Amino acid sequence: MILTDDEQRMRDGAEGPAVAAAMDLLVRYGQALDAERLCTVRNVAGTTTQPSPVKARLVAEGGWDRAFSIINLDADETLPIPPMAVPTCQLQQGFGPDSVGTVPYPPEFVELQTDGEAFVGARGVSVLATCTPYQVGNLPVRGEHCAWMESSAVVYANSVLGARTNCEGGASTGAASLTGRIPCWGNHHDAHRLGTHLVRVDTPVSEFRDWGLLGYAVGDVVQEARPVIVGDHALPDLTDLKHFGAAAASSGGVEMYHIVGVTPEAPTVAAAFGERRVPEPVVFGEAEKRAAYDRLNDQGSDTDVDFVLLGCPHASLEQIHDVARALDGRRLADGTQLWIMAPRALAVVAERSGHTAVIEAAGGRVLTDSCPAMSRAAPVGTRVFATDSAKQAHYLPAILGIQAWFGTTAECVDAAVTGRWRGELS
Ligand code: F3S
Repeated sequence: MILTDDEQRMRDGAEGPAVAAAMDLLVRYGQALDAERLCTVRNVAGTTTQPSPVKARLVAEGGWDRAFSIINLDADETLPIPPMAVPTCQLQQGFGPDSVGTVPYPPEFVELQTDGEAFVGARGVSVLATCTPYQVGNLPVRGEHCAWMESSAVVYANSVLGARTNCEGGASTGAASLTGRIPCWGNHHDAHRLGTHLVRVDTPVSEFRDWGLLGYAVGDVVQEARPVIVGDHALPDLTDLKHFGAAAASSGGVEMYHIVGVTPEAPTVAAAFGERRVPEPVVFGEAEKRAAYDRLNDQGSDTDVDFVLLGCPHASLEQIHDVARALDGRRLADGTQLWIMAPRALAVVAERSGHTAVIEAAGGRVLTDSCPAMSRAAPVGTRVFATDSAKQAHYLPAILGIQAWFGTTAECVDAAVTGRWRGELS
């Protein structure tokens, strides 16, 4: 791998042992990927504060310097961690102090995380605490090289914003935050951003649920490749696009997609494929939509619902407002809970706008920082949950051993107030 003079200087220890360890990690990682050089990045989205038993042990042994050194730098010893070299944000983490009393989450983890926030905050990390940093001000520009974790955020950054990032991990983002570098491979290169599959939508895709179904079907077909969508769909909004991408990254490993006439690198079909031959289309029709719906609902048999989970990826203000409108003047069924996960910054606005009060008056909660899948935490005794998120329906049954129903947001709110699942594919 070719290093610039500056990079070599960092590797040689001119900026201290933690930066040297970070550069060494990036070189080893880059060599394993056959990257010829490093990209300069000025936007890192990673995770340091998320509690775990291993992290608790490392912090007890040598503080957060030790936890960061071992987990985020793959070092063998405790190194003093300096301020971040480039703008860095903390993605989703565990549940915070405001969840106590609602979420069965270990209090020692809440405490550990609060401590971790102080450590990274003092080193310049913005604790956004969300899987949707792009909803709360972290908006890289088109063509900008980044180092982001979190599959739903990565696919949004590449596809919707036109920024360039691979799906990084805790160690590579830790190293990137101290050096402003990441191996230049994969989605950083033009050729790896061109479409591989043409997908023709032959059945109307016009609402939030349908974008999740389309994403789930497409991810299953293309796996880690790059679909190009054309056909019978309405103009998606931010919420539709985040659902589509998260679903495609769950059933497959999609990190980049194009919607012709919508996403920035696909003004036309020809532009989306570049020098590649445009392949025969894969069709998403009624049968494919039904198959995706049935697959997402094959973990549900009991129609008595005790938990409704909304906001995966974390909800937009519009989604919180929609739920408030749907719950206004109603009460959740006895024994049923409703949580809507949101970025902390948007939860502040939702509260100020009165949406949270309406949701709480009905018995629901707006929660932040995390989600049941990330923190393995749902209301005590949950057996059957309902969600409007293809990603949560895909993962949570396996993580918590519970049944799942997937449908529209309105069907989920109906389940919350009746305690029964009555959804169907219209
Ligand atoms: Fe976010 Fe959790 Fe979904 S981290 S994308 S709400 S699985």
